[in-house]
Amino acid sequence: MSIDSLVTESDRISVNPDFAKHSHVNGPELYEESQSDRLGFWKRQAQNLDWIQPFDEVLEWDRPYAKWFLNGKLNASANCLDRHLDGPRRHKAALIWEGEQGDIKTVTYAQLHRQVSQLAYQLHHRFKVKKGDRVTLYMPMVIELVVAVLACARVGAIHSVVFGGFSAQSLKDRLIDSDSKLVITADGGFRRGSVVNLKGIVDTALKDNDTSVKDVIVVRYAQNKVEMTANRDVEYDTVIRDDQSHFEPVPMDSEDPLFILYTSGTTGKPKGIVHSTGGYLTHAQYSTKVVFDLKDSDVYWCSADVGWITGHTYLVYGPLLNGATVMMAEGAPDYPDKDRFWSIINRHQVSIFYTAPTAIRAFMKWGDAYPNRHDLSSLRLLGTVGEPINPEAWRWYYDVIGQSRCPVVDTWWQTETGGIMISTLPGYHDQKPGQAGCPLPGIEAAILGNDGEHIKMGGGLLSLTQPWPSMLRGVWGDPDRFNEVYWSRFETYFAGDGAIKDEDGYYKVLGRVDDVLNVAGHRIGTMEVESCLVDFESVAEAAVVGINDEIKGQAIMAYVTLKEGAKQEDDLASQLSAHVAQSIGPIAKPKFIVITPELPKTRSGKIMRRILKNIAEGAESGDTSTLANPDIVRDLEAQVSAMKVPAT
Ligand code: WT7
Repeated sequence: MSIDSLVTESDRISVNPDFAKHSHVNGPELYEESQSDRLGFWKRQAQNLDWIQPFDEVLEWDRPYAKWFLNGKLNASANCLDRHLDGPRRHKAALIWEGEQGDIKTVTYAQLHRQVSQLAYQLHHRFKVKKGDRVTLYMPMVIELVVAVLACARVGAIHSVVFGGFSAQSLKDRLIDSDSKLVITADGGFRRGSVVNLKGIVDTALKDNDTSVKDVIVVRYAQNKVEMTANRDVEYDTVIRDDQSHFEPVPMDSEDPLFILYTSGTTGKPKGIVHSTGGYLTHAQYSTKVVFDLKDSDVYWCSADVGWITGHTYLVYGPLLNGATVMMAEGAPDYPDKDRFWSIINRHQVSIFYTAPTAIRAFMKWGDAYPNRHDLSSLRLLGTVGEPINPEAWRWYYDVIGQSRCPVVDTWWQTETGGIMISTLPGYHDQKPGQAGCPLPGIEAAILGNDGEHIKMGGGLLSLTQPWPSMLRGVWGDPDRFNEVYWSRFETYFAGDGAIKDEDGYYKVLGRVDDVLNVAGHRIGTMEVESCLVDFESVAEAAVVGINDEIKGQAIMAYVTLKEGAKQEDDLASQLSAHVAQSIGPIAKPKFIVITPELPKTRSGKIMRRILKNIAEGAESGDTSTLANPDIVRDLEAQVSAMKVPAT
């Protein structure tokens, strides 16, 4: 075989004809349909939902404000549950759940519907949760979390799910920003064998009485001892009543918000991304069906936590709208052992598996023996999301997990886009390892140059050039920020990612171009970490940069200077690290902290982060002549190389 053909072969994997034969999409028809009449295409997709009142117009676009499926009325939980009850899906498993302790539960559509209705009844009647009220969910990966999400949707409340790894302070900030009146939490969840005391964290967040939270519902799960505050806290089990299990879904306007989900941006304060009901659900249903080729016979597993957008769209809404059987698991991939995921796939005969590149790189490092212990022949499709996947990891996933049989979909999207924007369609597109693929039918994207000019082929900034149904409708309580972050740079939506488009129209997404890091698929703003560090008593200044990390994609490196006269304690770095974990959450902990007498600055006093990044990565520091204090660069280089920062 010549080198040429080897290269071509490894760069491109043709569509598997066996897969394509039975796939929902195996020809160009959807693309043709959407290109000849984009709005007509979306209208037909929306008609796959159950509308209580049909919409009379597809789109009203007054940049940057979009309204989709105008005057239509529907309810998200009715679409995920009620409409499956009349046919063969009634007693089909909606959720197969496995806790970290090994307990397994299966809930059918009929049972899930009943549980959701029971909780919705209580939310409405007992807790007086009304349409448009905000409810915060701070829960482990248990079935009650899905129940709570859908119960909020059933009564028309806007849910704000806060990932259980966030600190009390982060939770409190989100409770205040969203003005939530109710919190649903649990006595704990499991992570690598230990109990995370979620209720204790809620108590800390509420202790100053400066939120609008009136009630806290506590799910008993970890059998962890928790304090119950009278007139505020109640146990979930004492709330739910069997004789009150009927609650009619509240008709919501297509444009009514379905949820808020906080994500990091370039300033210290996270943004509450707002999603609508009709448009969001339309895209969730459609994209899940075409990208994952989801069928009734599948067992579909998305390993993301419901606290992230991936969990919202591709664990809860998308698959349930399609009447699928969803695998849901609590805990880490390496506990009790590094084969946890493969044993789950084998035990529950998972056929579609969706996870993050950071996990795949860890699996790869742990070695083939772990997957090889298990029969993975039930798998037929694999997916990845959250950050760029390097071709080596892609290959490993394809060869070892998919046994060169399963297509791999590399899906690009964001909290803001609500659902997948760019991917291959597994029965139609060839795959190119390391490249996400093409905009889905109905989605228009482009690569723009710095001045907004369209770049037909090559690299630039990724933009979505037409409104789409699941686009964010705003930043909660902050319309200016919505305009500024997404709509001020270009005419069209600014994604904040750099990308390259090739001759076949495939996009390779390179990563963020702003001050946002992607650590193990989690979005973290450098400013957030910096403002947290300067909060620490002895710290004067902080500068945070991202460095390449073999497993996590990126890791955080922080440089700090101390206040005049502050004593540098021996364990200062670990104190700072603990401080970050406490104020933001363990996911934001820096990998390296460099304590330095000065930061490199321009003569006008601006911290040169570019130089700090070069130092961190052991790269040439380049031109330092514009610095007010060029000598510090050499000192820092010496200090950092002594820390054995991985060379990149
Ligand atoms: C950022 C969005 C969307 C769910 C998970 C993350 C990066 C996401 C890919 C991909 C390269 C990707 C981008 C994006 N990203 N998917 N397939 N290839 N990069 O959601 O926290 O809103 O982060 O994740 O940088 O902007 P998020």
